[in-house]
Amino acid sequence: TVMTHTFIRAELISFSQDPGNENLPRPESLVHYADGLLWLEGQHIHAVGNFAELLPSLPEHAEILDYRDKLIMPGFIDTHVHYVQLDIMASYGRQLLDWLNDYTFPEECRFADHAHAEALSNAFLDEMLRAGTTTAQVFGSSHPNSVDAFFTACQKRNLRMLAGKVLMDRNAPQALLDGASGIADTERLIEDWHGRERLGYSVTPRFAPTSTKAQMDAAGALLRNDPSLWLQTHLAENSGELDWVAELFPGSRDYLAVYEQAGLVGPRSTFAHGIHLDDGMRQRLAERGASIAFCPSSNLFLGSGLFDRAAANDTGMSYSYATDIGAGTDLSGFGTLKSAYQVGQLLGQPLTAWQGFYGLTHGNAKALSLHRHIGQLAPSFEADLVVIDPRSTPLLARRIDHCSTLGERLFALMMLADDRSVFETWVAGRRLHQRDSS
Ligand code: GUN
Ligand code: ZN
Repeated sequence: TVMTHTFIRAELISFSQDPGNENLPRPESLVHYADGLLWLEGQHIHAVGNFAELLPSLPEHAEILDYRDKLIMPGFIDTHVHYVQLDIMASYGRQLLDWLNDYTFPEECRFADHAHAEALSNAFLDEMLRAGTTTAQVFGSSHPNSVDAFFTACQKRNLRMLAGKVLMDRNAPQALLDGASGIADTERLIEDWHGRERLGYSVTPRFAPTSTKAQMDAAGALLRNDPSLWLQTHLAENSGELDWVAELFPGSRDYLAVYEQAGLVGPRSTFAHGIHLDDGMRQRLAERGASIAFCPSSNLFLGSGLFDRAAANDTGMSYSYATDIGAGTDLSGFGTLKSAYQVGQLLGQPLTAWQGFYGLTHGNAKALSLHRHIGQLAPSFEADLVVIDPRSTPLLARRIDHCSTLGERLFALMMLADDRSVFETWVAGRRLHQRDSS
């Protein structure tokens, strides 16, 4: 088969390393070409560089897409999101446990219907691509068909995605409880989907209150049996949840110990929220290479609390950025960074644009152990891209023209951009979303 070659001339931004916490990115961490050329070959990036320098190596008569007024970054990554909650975003006035009972559990019951799961999978992926997000770690419902529908929709688009069927066998409506079939259904889904093309399976116990010890132990056995699997759950989000866990697991020294005892804490484990942790728990997570998904718009929406990035950095605990739709209020990576900045301001820990965009791309890829495949504009990486139109609204055009440095421009985008600023989204070398064509 002949590989398609694509040449794009644009401003390019990527991070080869963590830029650090200072006002300027650490030397060598930022890859920036004001007038760059991105050369795609098939599904991968073939070359990246300065336009004038790369031009002589291009084939004769190469057709070059002229995106000189656009900014290209690696596609954004969302490390924690519930596709089955898309339709309950912005449900009024509750904190976590009431919000689950009043809105979330009834909504997730609808996913017993395969046609509904298919429709929502497609709607969710359309929204992700509109937001410039090309990879996510995704919760289905407890119905295995919710994950079949989701992976089928991802496969059609050739997306790199992680997902799993929720495991829950107590403390929720009967219609959502999976009992003994939960683990068997998980094994079947792993067999059908894990490692297939760009898809990976995340074993998904919802959180300690809705799984018995037996179910969590069985989930741990799956992970021990196959270290290439991922694990996603929730940890220490809300004070009512903490009290409930203490009551349900009187023998555990703390919330994290419940997951440790089941063998759920490892380098491919993502724990959403991690707001109410002490340094001892942070250190234990760091030692095992697990990471927290910081979900700022969700934490503000549910009034859960403020994630302490400084404490994470001090203890070496890894964290990533996530939307947590349907408790999150914004599917956009830009919106997530805006909320993260606001949380940081309330704690005296402002977030630089360097940290923010590194986080959405290379940082999130690293947290998910996908950093050899995605998260950078560099040769041999998969060609998942977001093409940003920095002057997409009259206000942004004014603000961007007022900036004198790249740092200022990126910060303005982090605070003011949204899906209107996503001009195109490319997945594995193909344009899958065009703002102006829908
Ligand atoms: N904890 C357990 N389940 C959920 C959920 O669906 N959303 C959030 N935000 N927290 C949870
Ligand atoms: Zn969640």
